[in-house]
Amino acid sequence: MSLARLWESLLPIGREDPAGGYRRYAFTQAEMACRSWFRAAAAERDLAVSADRNANLWAWWDPPAGDCAPGAIVTGSHLDSVPDGGAFDGPLGVASGFAAIDLLRERGRVPARAVAVAAFCEEEGARFGLACLGSRLLTGAQDPAAARALRDGAGVTLAEAMTAAGYDPALIGPDEDLLGGIGAFVELHVEQGRALAEPPGAAIGIAAGIWPHGRWRFEFTGQADHAGTARLAGRRDPMLPFAATALAARECAGSLGTLATFGKIAAEPGGVNAISSSVRAWLDARAPDQDGLDLTVIRIHAAAEHAARRHGVALSVAPESLTPPVGFDPELRDRIAAVLGAAGIDAPVLATGAGHDAGVLAARMPTAMLFVRNPSGVSHAPAEHAEPADCELGVIALAAVLEDLACR
Ligand code: GLV
Ligand code: MN
Ligand code: MN
Repeated sequence: MSLARLWESLLPIGREDPAGGYRRYAFTQAEMACRSWFRAAAAERDLAVSADRNANLWAWWDPPAGDCAPGAIVTGSHLDSVPDGGAFDGPLGVASGFAAIDLLRERGRVPARAVAVAAFCEEEGARFGLACLGSRLLTGAQDPAAARALRDGAGVTLAEAMTAAGYDPALIGPDEDLLGGIGAFVELHVEQGRALAEPPGAAIGIAAGIWPHGRWRFEFTGQADHAGTARLAGRRDPMLPFAATALAARECAGSLGTLATFGKIAAEPGGVNAISSSVRAWLDARAPDQDGLDLTVIRIHAAAEHAARRHGVALSVAPESLTPPVGFDPELRDRIAAVLGAAGIDAPVLATGAGHDAGVLAARMPTAMLFVRNPSGVSHAPAEHAEPADCELGVIALAAVLEDLACR
C-alpha cells in the first residue's frame, strides 16, 4: 500500500530528534517543508494542487472532462503540530487521503464528482493561539482583520508570517465559491484517547461529535522584586494566585465531570532570583456539553479572582479560541457505518474531546470523521501511536467511503 511510502517521506520533517516530538508550526521552515511534501505527493499522482486564499492546501482528483457531478467530496486533515506533538495527529488523515485515492485508482474506479485531499492551516493554533484557523477563516467563523493581527510568541503577526511564506494576508477570509462546490467532508484522524484501545476495542471508529471547548488567557500582574530581600508579608507575587488557580481548575473539573488544563505559562521577566512581575497562563477547558463548559470556566475564573485578591495581584481573563459543541451529520454517519459494515469493518461510534477542522466545517456542510485506533491512548505527545495494520485498514475504510460518495 502507498501509505507506508508516503509516511516514510513525511516522518523526518520537523522532528526535533529521532525520539522526540514534532514542531511543525504554521509557516515555519518545518511546516513549509510539509507543504512541499503535500505538493510533491499531489504532483506524483497527477492531482491538481492549489492553495486557497487562507493558505489551506488542496489536491484535486477530477472526473473525466465534461462529466462532473456537483458536490465535491473532500477528505484530509492538517500538517501542523502542537509543541513536541506526535507523528499522527493530522498527517495521518492527509497521507491516508492520498493513499485512498491510490487504492481507488488501482481498482479502476473513476470519480463522478471531484475528490480532494485538503491540508488545513494552523489547526492546532500552536503558533497564533487560535485553533482551526484555516477552516475558521474559510467558513467565515473568524474575522480576517482580527486574524491578521494575531501574534505568535515572538511578536510576529499572522500577516507578517504569511507574507514571509509567500501568501497574501490581504486575501484571507470566507471563500463561498470554494465552499459552495463541496458536497461533504470526511476527516480521518488518529484516535486521541483510549476509546478504541480498550475492550471491546476496534481498529476504526466513527465520530458522533466533538465536545465544546476553548482556550482562555489568564494574566496575573503583581510586583517584581528581589527574591532574597522582599519580605513574604509585603509581596505581590503573581505565581501564587496562578498556582491556586491551577489547583482549583483540577478540582473543579473533577467535581463537574469536565476537563481543565493549564499547559502553557509564561512568567515575566523569568529570573530565578526574582518575584515575577506577571504570569500569563492559558486554560484549555472542555466538557460534554456547553453548560458544563461554561460552569467550569466561571468557577475557575472565580477561584482566580479570589486568589488574586488575596495576594494583591491584578487579574485579566480573555478568551482566545472558542468552539461550540458539534454533532456530525447523522445521515452521513449512518451511510458511512453502512458502507464500513458492508466492507466487514466494525466501527463503533464515539464522541471526542479533541478539536478538528471537521468540527468547524460541520457548520457549513455534511461532515464526518473516521478514527484509527491509538494503542498508547496518548496524543499531543511523542508517545502517540497507531499500528501500520490499523492505518492501512483506515485507508481501506476511507477508500470505501470515498468510493460510495464520489465514484460511479
Ligand atoms: C486539537 O487537537 C485540540 O483538540 O486541541
Ligand atoms: Mn491535535
Ligand atoms: Mn488533529
